[in-house]
Amino acid sequence: MAVRAIVVGSLVMDLSFLVPKRPEPGEVVIATGFATFRGGKGYNQAIALARLGADVTFVGAVGDDAWGREFIASLEAERVDASRMVVIPDAGTSVAAPMVTPDGDVAFVHAPAANALLTPEAVADLPACDVLLLQGEVPVETSIAAARVVERYGALVMLNPAPAHGITPELIEVAAILTPNEIEARDLARSAGDPVAVARMLAAGRRGAVITLGERGAAWAIDGQSGHAYPPSIVAIDATGAGDSFCAALAVALVEGQPAADAVRFACAARAAAATVRGAEPGLPDRRMVEALLGR
Ligand code: RIB
Repeated sequence: MAVRAIVVGSLVMDLSFLVPKRPEPGEVVIATGFATFRGGKGYNQAIALARLGADVTFVGAVGDDAWGREFIASLEAERVDASRMVVIPDAGTSVAAPMVTPDGDVAFVHAPAANALLTPEAVADLPACDVLLLQGEVPVETSIAAARVVERYGALVMLNPAPAHGITPELIEVAAILTPNEIEARDLARSAGDPVAVARMLAAGRRGAVITLGERGAAWAIDGQSGHAYPPSIVAIDATGAGDSFCAALAVALVEGQPAADAVRFACAARAAAATVRGAEPGLPDRRMVEALLGR
């Protein structure tokens, strides 16, 4: 049976610039490329889950505008249940400006718009599921309300605590699995030690924590075990959405019951695959692509 996943999160239209470097204060940097991609951590994770074979329900908010309609049509085209999507008449669909440097790394400016208006009512009647994926781009009270609903089903609650300003201790508290990047992990653990040790600290009192380390893979502590997983070697083009691909793949692998070390390796391969393609959504891999990278 397919993994039943719910994502409560953001949708963001990414106006993506390829830049030789990020601007200093007062500087104008001329982009070497520009394109528009559907993105947002929640949307990316929902599409990634669907491409990996999960049955996905997505709850998020868009404005009553062309981008909002495009997002809903795209969710439906990927066979994601978008029936709980909220359309907000007086707000625009969220937008971001990713700036991608030649090493494939990315930094963002982000305007939350409709994402900031997703209220707990939107998640009051979530269906039964195996796993709920949360991030930090919609109101904390809505994410916590969603976690409380799926607790009834015994679902695994995973939190990607990004961006850091959207995270509170109460939200961290509801997560069984945390998937921070290295900077977020340091902030949460208030420790800058060895990443595996930090993962163990973050896993205390919950099922686990996995720290994404980009091209260095991931440090993990799950179910009392811990380790460092390394990714397949790739040439990174654009890391936008790569972390979302990681979260989705980890969710699928853990619900399937893969051993923790294998689940994290699977997630590292999904992240690597996503980083080889320009833009968030276009790079989110299907299962066959992840397995091929793993050499399975
Ligand atoms: O995780 C990547 C996403 O974060 C991008 O698609 C961007 O929209 C930001 O929300």
